Amino acid sequence: MKKVVAIMLALVLVLALAACGGKDDGKKTVGVLIYKFDDAFMTTYRNALKEILEEKGYEVTFQDGNNDQAKQNEQINNYITQGVDALIINPVMTSAADQIVSTVKNAGIPTVLINREPTAEQMSAYDKLVYVGCDAAQSGTFQGELILDTPNQGDINGDGKISYIMIQGDPENIDAQLRTEYSVKALTDAGKTVEQLDLQRGDWDREKGQTICANDLAQYGDQIEVVFCNNDDMAIGALQSIQAAGRKVNEDIYLVGVDALEAALNEVANGNMTGTVLNDAVGQATAAVEQMEKLLDGATYKAGEQSVYVPYVKVTPDNVKDFQ
Ligand code: BGC
Repeated sequence: MKKVVAIMLALVLVLALAACGGKDDGKKTVGVLIYKFDDAFMTTYRNALKEILEEKGYEVTFQDGNNDQAKQNEQINNYITQGVDALIINPVMTSAADQIVSTVKNAGIPTVLINREPTAEQMSAYDKLVYVGCDAAQSGTFQGELILDTPNQGDINGDGKISYIMIQGDPENIDAQLRTEYSVKALTDAGKTVEQLDLQRGDWDREKGQTICANDLAQYGDQIEVVFCNNDDMAIGALQSIQAAGRKVNEDIYLVGVDALEAALNEVANGNMTGTVLNDAVGQATAAVEQMEKLLDGATYKAGEQSVYVPYVKVTPDNVKDFQ
């Protein structure tokens, strides 16, 4: 009889351990890979992920890809060797998605991709993989609409055309491509004539945004009516140059970004930015964890249904308080 009880106890223990994924402390492990820690928006996103995952009892670790895809590939392999239960990956380069997808597929690890969207075809290779992000075109459209909502609809000097400079993120990233395209498309769709004075890549970086804007202000001066920035960090940099040049946002120049970083929200409230677009880091982190849990519960995804989008929201002086 004693023997039977002992065997049963051992069995219960084994089952309990198995239910915990074999980890002694019962916590499931999650590896999160960020393209680079030194990115203002991804820092907010990373903090949100950490809080949500820890709150839910996961053991989570983060890796800084330092904007180096080869380094991130190694980090993914290390996580696989360690046997993490799930991965959340912010790829360094979307062009590397094929390799990332095949690596996690071979390892059979449930994976959520975030922030840099690969093509549906690239994702279709693995059914335990999902992308969580936003519809980048929407943020561009909203930026254009912010300009159309100004009293002179972006044509400050009344010459019948909207003259702008475009400070672009890393053009390898679809967010940069679509924001650049759709911000201007919103203007032309509304029947406006536009003039692009300059387009340069600022790689999502505040200092580059500042330098590009300073050079353009020196070269084009009052001709510039609108400064489009693919993100807020570059817009904050641009604002420093606008102020240094003695220009005044919303009076003789318009400035828009994307993300709704805290610093940008303050500038929208102060009238130093025309507007921004909420890139909902907390909403995306929440959705990413939700999707990860579905995958851990055994969900699989059909090709063409592997992208989950969180909506963008326009932020103006009228509603900025709701986001601060
Ligand atoms: C954000 C940028 C960020 C980039 C990183 C974009 O969605 O708007 O601020 O630098 O993602 O991939």
